[in-house]
Formats: sequence, C-alpha cells, structure tokens
Amino acid sequence: MKELQIGVVGLGAIGREHVKRLTERITGCRVVAVSEVNQEVGRKVAEQYGAKFYEDGEELINSPEVEAVMVTTWDPAHAQYVMASIKAGKYVFCEKPLATEVAECEEIIKAEEAFGKRIVQVGFMRRFDPGYVELKKTIEEGKIGLPLIVHACHRNMTHEATMTSEMSIKNSGVHEIDVLRWLLDDDYVSGQVVLPRQSSISAKEGLQDPQIMMLRTKKGICIDVEISQSSGYGYDIQCEVVGDLGTAKLPDPPRVITKTDCTKASGIMPGWETRFIEAYNIEMQDWVDTVLADETPHGASAWDGYMACLTATILGECRAEGGTSKEITLPEKPEFYN
Ligand code: NAI
Repeated sequence: MKELQIGVVGLGAIGREHVKRLTERITGCRVVAVSEVNQEVGRKVAEQYGAKFYEDGEELINSPEVEAVMVTTWDPAHAQYVMASIKAGKYVFCEKPLATEVAECEEIIKAEEAFGKRIVQVGFMRRFDPGYVELKKTIEEGKIGLPLIVHACHRNMTHEATMTSEMSIKNSGVHEIDVLRWLLDDDYVSGQVVLPRQSSISAKEGLQDPQIMMLRTKKGICIDVEISQSSGYGYDIQCEVVGDLGTAKLPDPPRVITKTDCTKASGIMPGWETRFIEAYNIEMQDWVDTVLADETPHGASAWDGYMACLTATILGECRAEGGTSKEITLPEKPEFYN
C-alpha cells in the first residue's frame, strides 16, 4: 500500500502530537522529514521517529522525499511555509490560523488559484469533531427550526505569558469564528467586541481577559462568544444554538460521574489535546486519505482561513477602537473555492 511521505515543520506542542499521531495512529503515511528552529528538539524528534532533520523549513518542503507538508510552527511563520508548499506544488496541512495577517491570506489565495488546484487545508479540526458534526446535522435537518441565536464560549484553562488581547481573538477566537460560520453555513456581516470586567487571575498588561465577540450573520443570526484565557478549572468549549422550534447544544465529551461524600462530580478536559483528540484523529486520517487519492481536501480551505483571519482582524480593530460595532465586508468567493 502506498504511504504518503510527510514533512513536518515546527515541533512544539502540537507538532510533536501530530508527528506521534501520524506515526502511531494514522494509516497510509510516514513522517520522513522534520524541521524546527530549536535544533536540539528537532534532532531529537527526528531520531525518535527515524525522520531526516532539516535546519531550514523551506529546504524540507523542496526536498524530493517530502510529498506533503504539515505546518505546525508558531502562527507568524505559517504563511511563509504555506506559500513555499504551493510553490513546490505540494499538498499542505497548515495548523490554524492560516496566517496572522489578511494580506498574507490574500497572497496564499492568489497563489493557490494561480496554481490551479486546491492543495491547502487549514487545521480547523472542530469541523471533524463528532459533537459539532451532529450539531450541524441537527440544524440542517430542521429539528430546531430556523437558527436565531448562538451562545458559545471558549475557555482555556490557562495561557502562555505571551498571550495578548489580539492573540486571544486571532489564535483562540479564530476557532469559534470558523466553526460557527461552517455550522450555520453563513457569513458574517458585522461584529463587535464587548469587554467585561478584567479577570484578576489573567490580568496583565496587553491582555484584556475575558472578551466577548458579538457577530451577526447574513441570515440575521446573532452570536455571542465568550473567550476566556484562564478559566482555572479546565478547557471548556460550549455552543448552544437557539432556533424558533427548539435549541441544540454541543455535547461535552463523556466523563464518568462519581457520587461520593454527598457530592456528584465528573471531570473536565484540561486542554485541546484531550478535548479534541477524536477530531484531530479523524481530521488527519481524512487529510492523508484525500491527499493519497489526489482529491480536494475536505477540511477548511485557504478561503475559510482567509475569512477567519479577516473577521478576527476586524474584531481586533473594533476592540482597539473602543468596542463599537463594525461592518464586516467580505470579498466575493471565487468559483475556485466553491
Ligand atoms: P508551540 O509554541 O509549542 O510550538 C511552536 C513551535 O514552532 C516551536 O517549537 C518553535 O520553535 C517552532 N517554530 C517557530 N518558528 C519556526 C520556523 N520558522 N521553523 C520551524 N519551527 C519554528 O506552539 P503549539 O501549541 O505547538 O502551536 C503551534 C501551532 O499550532 C500554532 O499556530 C497554533 O495556533 C496551532 N495550534 C492549533 C491547535 C488546534 O486546536 N488546532 C491547538 C494548538 C496549537
């Protein structure tokens, strides 16, 4: 059976998780090359998995043994490696976000369109999460009637010291921006950021936490999403869609319920690694299968990554300008992305 030879650029937390996943869990592929700016880490991972280490990510992308690329560096380096992959004509899976700047997304869109074939997938893995998939099906079957309102929340247990107000939306909030657009099969027309009282736990210069993103869609659906960087109790992702016939809610992952000492308790996932493990596994197997079959990837496209970045950027401007609502004017989707 043919094995897809993958090169991975960036071996931090999720890069190492994905290398392990591709090696131990996903069928039909092999990690043959890795690159990481921290050479000690990079060489260690290369040795552990029998892959070749490249000091330079672009050299890895252009090497003949690499058939498909996975970009898992920090956010600001994504665009460079996605562009290099398109230039090399190789399928590329880029962890979210596609890029940090709107202009970079536009460059990627143009390059992919000029290449003439869709080869970019963005790692918005919630689109593969069984809970979100069921929620989407429930809405599409009309069980709750017309969707009117969405209440959602994204609570991280804790955040890195480098977290800023902008990143809170562009790095965490971007998941919500993408998954709700996909869930509702809709686009945004306006947005606003509301700033509640500052958390005493996560407060630091440059980080307003929590933030509430308010969005309105073309169909007129109103969305509120709480983004909190330091819940202190776990990684908690919630989504409730209110329709005119009923409501539908994203299920929590199943955990055992204990009853002891007059107390009923059940666990909460600590982070994305465990909360979305099934979504990552399904997403990655699907990506490998479609690339091997030379088919258009099923996950979020470069266009979706662009829409998410554009929306997050406008919301960031809105916050910086004091929170008043801003129109979100999106360019028309080219036929290439339909
Ligand atoms: P991390 O900070 O643990 O790792 C990033 C790694 O990239 C570091 O090891 C760094 O040295 C390396 N790096 C930076 N620039 C590089 C370059 N030019 N070439 C090669 N390596 C480079 O961050 P983490 O958590 O692993 O996140 C990586 C990416 O994955 C981020 O873009 C993040 O947004 C995304 N992510 C996605 C998640 C999801 O749920 N889909 C969850 C966690 C992260």
